[in-house]
Amino acid sequence: MKRGIEEFFAATAPGLEEVCAAEMRAIGLEEVRTTPGGVAFRGELRDLYRANLWLRTAGRIVVRLGEFGSRDFPDLYKKTLRLPWGRFIRPGTALRVRAVSRRSRLVHTGRLEATVGEAALRALGEGSPNGLEQLVLVRLEQDRCLVSIDSSGELLHRRGYRLHAGAAPLRETLAAGLLGLLQWDGSVPLLDPLCGSGTIVIEGALSARRIAPGSERAFAFMNWPGWRQGLWEALGAEARRSQRSLPSPLVASDRDSAVLEVARGNAQRAGVADAIDFQCSALADVRPQGAPGLLLCNPPYGERLESGGDLRPFFRMLGEVGRRFCGWQIAFLAPDERLARASGLPVVPRARLDNGGLEVTLFAGRVE
Ligand SMILES: C[S@@+](CC[C@H](N)C(=O)[O-])C[C@H]1O[C@@H](n2cnc3c(N)ncnc32)[C@H](O)[C@@H]1O
Repeated sequence: MKRGIEEFFAATAPGLEEVCAAEMRAIGLEEVRTTPGGVAFRGELRDLYRANLWLRTAGRIVVRLGEFGSRDFPDLYKKTLRLPWGRFIRPGTALRVRAVSRRSRLVHTGRLEATVGEAALRALGEGSPNGLEQLVLVRLEQDRCLVSIDSSGELLHRRGYRLHAGAAPLRETLAAGLLGLLQWDGSVPLLDPLCGSGTIVIEGALSARRIAPGSERAFAFMNWPGWRQGLWEALGAEARRSQRSLPSPLVASDRDSAVLEVARGNAQRAGVADAIDFQCSALADVRPQGAPGLLLCNPPYGERLESGGDLRPFFRMLGEVGRRFCGWQIAFLAPDERLARASGLPVVPRARLDNGGLEVTLFAGRVE
């Protein structure tokens, strides 16, 4: 491999791999390959910084430290010791090692974590505690051991703007993923009539304005020995120059005025409050305003409802409201096809996704 070129992997929620790969290509990352659960890519440190700064749908990005076969613990220790730990970790850093094992002889994940941790500390050598912590991921699959170093730190959905949330908020990465799957690029209006804490419209405003989602937060790579602050600042300045004004209106409504206040606060912290029109409205009263666009929402499901747990009346109402939106694309998440059919809308399944551990489907279609 060329000097300075590393193997990276961006982990995503299931169903978001292709959207994430498209995001990577759009920012010029190379050798992008999707696998279930994420996207591998190759590049320099600069590419790793850019991926953390720009990717809206990745959960975390890791650098591959090494891969080798191993079937016993002394061998694992010996091979782990040889890995180039010092390139990414300063001596004196506390290590948090997390291991998974599948179809392998070494199955005891606690012992895997301890063995890798001991070898890494020995390889790094003495260092007085520096107050830093680094996550190390170990994956054993069919006796092949893959060791990775986390570059993100806090998960990437934590953009820093959502300090408060309503009930059942969407992860920011999933909200961005829905917009990516629906290929919404800001050129038409966006409406979320069940906006809760505002995640869908806030993510929409951030991406349509080309605001880098990672520009206001810290990352694990900032603690690595080769940290290049100047390069990071240059990438931040470049990102600020690429911002643009919002091409189309964004509307977010909810019947709960308290949750709308939460949404407004989140939008303010994200720097996009001026781009979103928040309205207090019951779903039944929502009507199209302006040119056709995308109506996207995350209806209540998996929670107790006024109708005694039967969600079909709610989806029927969503259907009645949706039919007012001639020429619009309508999209929503639902846990099963029966509910999508209850809406009576011309929607088809577009992607199987995971929302907080619950399997859901994105349904979408155009109302004619
Ligand atoms: C699952 S939450 C949406 C969460 C949101 N996507 C987020 O990320 O925070 C559903 C929202 O629908 C709102 N809601 C439920 N029934 C409604 C109705 N009939 N009219 C308007 N809003 C309603 C609730 O107040 C709640 O905020």
